[in-house]
Parts: sequence; structure tokens; C-alpha cells
Amino acid sequence: MMVGYGDDPHAAGGPARHIPVLLAEVLEALSPGAGEVIVDGTFGAGGYTKAILASGASVVAIDRDPDAIAAGRVLEQQSGGKLRLVQAPFSTLDEHVESADGVVLDIGISSMQIDQAERGFSFRADGPLDMRMAQAGLSAADVVNSFKVGDLARIFGFLGEERHAGRIARMIENRREKHPFERTLDLADAIETHIGRAPKDKIHPATRVFQALRIFVNDELGELAKALFAAERVLKPGGRLAVVTFHS
Ligand SMILES: C[S@@+](CC[C@H](N)C(=O)[O-])C[C@H]1O[C@@H](n2cnc3c(N)ncnc32)[C@H](O)[C@@H]1O
Repeated sequence: MMVGYGDDPHAAGGPARHIPVLLAEVLEALSPGAGEVIVDGTFGAGGYTKAILASGASVVAIDRDPDAIAAGRVLEQQSGGKLRLVQAPFSTLDEHVESADGVVLDIGISSMQIDQAERGFSFRADGPLDMRMAQAGLSAADVVNSFKVGDLARIFGFLGEERHAGRIARMIENRREKHPFERTLDLADAIETHIGRAPKDKIHPATRVFQALRIFVNDELGELAKALFAAERVLKPGGRLAVVTFHS
């Protein structure tokens, strides 16, 4: 396995610890070569991008997270013009490159994003209820504190497959009037208190709600659908598309 670059603690976003998954499989599927152009739609800590650059191909690397792009600037400068970084959603990849030999998307969030409590993706440590990869737009707190109870229930049920979606949505509606939800641990504790936790439960009772909020806040399903069409528009005949996704 290859550890992401960015062990420089002064890099934006702090030390990068993301270990790229399925790197060998991605390289085999993309089969990048000298003179080719590959779009890495999920730059993250640059693990895929670095390996693709090592093959001699050029890379247009996209990430919607300004911290990921800022931390990648050193690599861009060192690349001798072979790497171009773009801060954007990957659904717009066809606005940043005319044609490509390969496109790779490594869907989800990076370990840097999960591990930084202030990004608000996790309830392992307390942080603001944020969850925005792009650090702009509607936050998870905005959704939880302002959406109608029926909409919250649909988000938790559809995007989190949460069987207590309605109960949790009603609890949120009652509680937020007196005391809006602003912190990850506050929401996680309120869900646990409300629906309880059986000893046999393997996951925390708030896990599915957090997954649903993250997918909703970042429009992850819409992004993927649009990106697949965008990839089709830029890929040359014989071009390769690799999509990596993990859901437990
Ligand atoms: C799993 S990490 C990618 C790790 C990367 N393959 C590596 O080797 O370091 C996912 C990254 O994609 C970014 N991302 C996720 N969805 C995105 C989207 N729709 N548009 C742009 N970037 C996105 C996240 O901000 C995160 O930095």
C-alpha cells in the first residue's frame, strides 16, 4: 500500500494519512501511459494521482475540498506541468478538460476529512454539525434544524436505510425548537437516547443518520450520476473509466 503524500505537518489540512484503496486495481483498469491525459476526479491526498503521474501520463486532478487542493499545490509545482489541480465538483469534469484517455473516481470522503473533528463528518469526536466537503453551501446543521419532519424522515430512510427514520425525525423536530442541533455529539447522543441501543447492535444508532446527512449535504448520488455522463463526454474512443466505491 502507498501512503498519501503530505507528511509535512504545515501542509493545508495537516498531515495527510489517507491510504489509497485498490490502487493496483485502479492502475490496471486505467492503464495510464506516457502522453496520455487522465482525470482524477477525487484527488484527496493524491495517492492515485501520484501513481498515475509515475506512469508518464498527465493528470487533471479535481477535488471540491479547498483543503485537499491547497495541500496538493506542492505536488503540482513539482510535476513540471504534468499535473493541473482544479477545485470543483467532479460532476463538472467536462468543463475542465476537453478529452481524456481515462477517468477515475474514488467516491466518498478521505481519512483527513473524517479525522478532523471540525469538519463535522463523524461523532467519534465532537465537532460542528457540518459535513460539507466543499466547505460551502447548506450544512448538516442547516438541514437538521430547518427541514420539514417528512423530508428529514425521507432523507434518513432513503439515504441511510434507517428503520427508525420517522421516530428520529420527530424527535429532532421537537428538540430543535428549544435547542437547535449544532454539534455532532449532541445529535448522536440525542438519537441514542431516543431509540436506545441493544447490546447486539454492532453500529452506533446514529451511524445511518450521519451517512444519510453526508450523502444529502454533498448531493453524492446526483454528483455521481452527472459525473458518469460527463466522463462519457470527455473519454476518447478506447478510454477507460474506473469508479471505486465502498459502503458497509
Ligand atoms: C476517498 S477520497 C480520495 C482519495 C484519493 N484517491 C487518494 O488516493 O488520496 C475522496 C476525495 O474526493 C473528494 N470528493 C468526493 N466527492 C466529490 C465530488 N463530487 N466532487 C469533487 N470532489 C469530491 C473528497 O473531497 C475527497 O477529498
